[in-house]
Amino acid sequence: MLETFLPPLQRWLLFSGVILVVGAVTWRGVLVPRLRYRLTGGRLEHEAEHPEVATAEARVAGVAAVVAGVLMVTWGLRLWAQYLDFRDPFTTVGEDLRFLLLDTGWGTIWMIQGGVIALLAVGFLLLRRRAGATAPPPPGLTPEGVLRTTPPLLELPLRWKLVTAGVLVLVLTLGLSSHAMSVPGSRTLAVSVDMMHTLAAGGWIGTLFLVLVTARPRTERARSFLAVQLTAFSPLAMVAVGALIFMGILLSIFHTHEIAALWQSEYGRRLSGKVGLAGGVMLLGLWNWRRGLPALVRAQGREAPGAAQRVWQSAALEVALAAVVVLATAILVATPVPPGAH
Ligand code: HEM
Repeated sequence: MLETFLPPLQRWLLFSGVILVVGAVTWRGVLVPRLRYRLTGGRLEHEAEHPEVATAEARVAGVAAVVAGVLMVTWGLRLWAQYLDFRDPFTTVGEDLRFLLLDTGWGTIWMIQGGVIALLAVGFLLLRRRAGATAPPPPGLTPEGVLRTTPPLLELPLRWKLVTAGVLVLVLTLGLSSHAMSVPGSRTLAVSVDMMHTLAAGGWIGTLFLVLVTARPRTERARSFLAVQLTAFSPLAMVAVGALIFMGILLSIFHTHEIAALWQSEYGRRLSGKVGLAGGVMLLGLWNWRRGLPALVRAQGREAPGAAQRVWQSAALEVALAAVVVLATAILVATPVPPGAH
């Protein structure tokens, strides 16, 4: 029983956690610069002028710290799940674990992954404390506000850059223990594509989750912050979904050697199921973007909490359905690829 449910549950938690921490750094690195630009009505101003952003930044760092804590537990479970898969009845537990950790590539990646998760937990906690501490204004900024001269990522405070680097290493450790590692001849390409697929999933679903956490539409001001955030998020979501689909198709080509494998093999059937579910999430996202967001923007300043509530709930459903896609992925990645694919 435990052996059946623990491994997929552990992978689901791992993937979900990684998607959320990718979302946290995307929120800060990509969304916040766009947000500030919008909040000032087209003028770029110093971050201290926007209290909502500073409060939201503290909350995002706090949520990410909790997620990193959960990832820590998941990381421990991962060793247990691997041990259950690998267990040799003729040796002791200690010998099995020593072999797993010290003599396999899996063990090396697992240990690196644990180190990165621990550093991220500390990093996000420190960020939560320091959130809102004013960074020096970007070069070329006048008190009246001028258009940016540096790309948003370069304006990112060093502490966030370090955490972003940690998140990238964490995503790399996922790629290094995925099916991409067994693609013959193009392993580096396959791992890079796998990484970009995970980053795109986090950039879309992880960021949306944090937008919803930081702007619960309880007051008029929070409703307007939700509208501003979702408006700034839409172009990012479009790029992320495009990249997710493109990288997903490449991964599907890597892991299934012919189109018939999509229905003739167990792997292909599970992949098709996942793609069907992902299509549903994307359609809901499309509806939220084309119908929900314009209704929310139109309702601004009209004391109409209903529109904001509806959009928030519908976007929350989008995130919840994506969690089901991640569960389907957690099952897919442990399914052997069709014969002849690798
Ligand atoms: C809501 C949308 C999606 C989410 C959240 C998502 C998430 C993920 C995650 C977290 C992984 C694991 C990466 C790793 O182990 O390093 C993955 C793998 C994969 N995804 Fe997606 N994905 C989505 C949509 C898609 C789509 C649309 C396709 C196909 C067109 C696709 C195809 C794949 C394939 C083939 C893999 C590799 C599985 C393996 O290693 O055997 N995904 N996805």
